[in-house]
Amino acid sequence: MFTASAIMNMKSHVFLIYPLLCFLFLSSFVYGQLDYKYYDTTCPNLTKIVRNGVWSAISNDTRMPASLLRLHFHDCFVNGCDGSILLDDTSTFTGEKNAFPNRNSARGYEVIDAIKANVEKACPSTVSCTDILTLAAREAIYLTRGPFWSVCLGRRDSLTASQSAANDQLPSPFEPLVNITAKFVSKGLDVKDVVVLSGAHTIGFAQCFMFKRRLFDFDGSGNPDPTLDLSLLGSLRSVCPNQSDSDSNLAPLDAVTINRFDNVYFKNLMNNSGLLESDQALMNDNTTAALVSNYSRNPSLFSKEFAASMVKLINIGVLTGQNGEIRKNCRVVN
Ligand code: HEM
Ligand SMILES: *[C@@H]1O[C@H](CO)[C@@H](O)[C@H](O)[C@H]1NC(C)=O
Ligand SMILES: *[C@@H]1O[C@H](CO)[C@@H](O)[C@H](O)[C@H]1NC(C)=O
Ligand SMILES: *[C@@H]1O[C@H](CO)[C@@H](O)[C@H](O)[C@H]1NC(C)=O
Ligand SMILES: *[C@@H]1O[C@H](CO)[C@@H](O)[C@H](O)[C@H]1NC(C)=O
Ligand SMILES: *[C@@H]1O[C@H](CO)[C@@H](O)[C@H](O)[C@H]1NC(C)=O
Ligand SMILES: *[C@@H]1O[C@H](CO)[C@@H](O)[C@H](O)[C@H]1NC(C)=O
Ligand SMILES: *[C@@H]1O[C@H](CO)[C@@H](O)[C@H](O)[C@H]1NC(C)=O
Repeated sequence: MFTASAIMNMKSHVFLIYPLLCFLFLSSFVYGQLDYKYYDTTCPNLTKIVRNGVWSAISNDTRMPASLLRLHFHDCFVNGCDGSILLDDTSTFTGEKNAFPNRNSARGYEVIDAIKANVEKACPSTVSCTDILTLAAREAIYLTRGPFWSVCLGRRDSLTASQSAANDQLPSPFEPLVNITAKFVSKGLDVKDVVVLSGAHTIGFAQCFMFKRRLFDFDGSGNPDPTLDLSLLGSLRSVCPNQSDSDSNLAPLDAVTINRFDNVYFKNLMNNSGLLESDQALMNDNTTAALVSNYSRNPSLFSKEFAASMVKLINIGVLTGQNGEIRKNCRVVN
């Protein structure tokens, strides 16, 4: 069986060799119908179409790999990887898009729409929006020279979505590590997945209101968060002045190598330069701090373990067989 790292190291897709089996970690019943070759006969150009769409989106917006990865994570975490996050609200339906963690925050919907339109032209009513999002996130990170993970295909699209589940189940940067870990455990992930997947914060941006309380009056102390590096504090205060009109200004999650998918996120945590409280909190627990230290010293260990944890994430709660549907338009059920 080829490992994720073996595949990752094969820099040419031409020689890509599939693992023998789709990753199974809950039960073969759930994943029995996912397959690396799921669309090989029905939509042979799928990966190419997705890659081209992601490539053109990135050439217009260098933040897009981060946004697609997060969109995929938020889809998978709430009722499984089922495209539920892509559904628009209507007068009679309230879904995940406007849940607190997603509203004015999750991005990339137009990119998925554009790719879906091209996929529909090539192979109508064949490929789910969920599989497109899953492939798009993988391609986005791979195209930015990040880790590569193999994607089993055959996920179907949900018929519904739940705003309250999204509010309750997505992690918040304001909650303690034990709470975040509990949310991951409830999805079949573990504390190591929390740490290594948090490494996704090596790219992308956060709005000031997500971390501003660290900058001025932390926990009513009248002082900034003592676990925030002073020079980073200075630059964050200039991006996020102490007034509410700075709430949606953006700061990079990894200020050192903003758009590069590397292990610098973990190096930053080692010197008090994590942006979110939930990032820096990984240093306050011996188990997670030991993992952070490992990943900060060993970039290839991080890549390999990130890819392995992504494979767990992308198979959470998938719909197969007769469940769900293949949406024609990712924003509405058929
Ligand atoms: C461990 C718990 C996590 C918390 C509390 C958390 C929280 C956040 C927050 C607050 C933001 C900024 C959103 C905004 O300001 O609009 C963010 C951005 C981001 N998150 Fe996380 N996150 C977590 C885990 C993850 C995971 C597991 C992934 C992916 C595997 C991920 C990928 C990202 C990316 C790539 C961005 C930047 C998005 C962009 O620039 O558009 N996060 N996260
Ligand atoms: C796949 O794309 C190639 C061009 O890249 C095209 O010649 C071929 O017809 C496409 N195949 C299908 C089944 O759409
Ligand atoms: C390019 O990116 C910007 C955001 O940075 C977005 O508003 C715009 O719609 C994008 N244009 C295209 C053609 O995708
Ligand atoms: C953390 O979880 C506990 C138990 O579920 C809950 O009572 C508490 O409100 C949570 N804390 C935060 C900040 O969400
Ligand atoms: C931030 O603003 C609040 C009022 O909006 C003020 O009470 C506080 O002193 C300010 N803190 C700093 C450090 O400027
Ligand atoms: C923290 O580490 C980064 C490299 O990962 C470095 O560029 C930065 O200067 C360090 N900050 C401090 C205060 O040492
Ligand atoms: C965590 O590590 C510190 C110092 O390395 C040690 O003093 C402490 O007992 C450890 N805590 C736990 C819960 O293992
Ligand atoms: C750190 O990585 C090494 C492999 O490079 C591994 O043997 C060790 O168990 C890891 N430590 C932790 C705390 O994960």
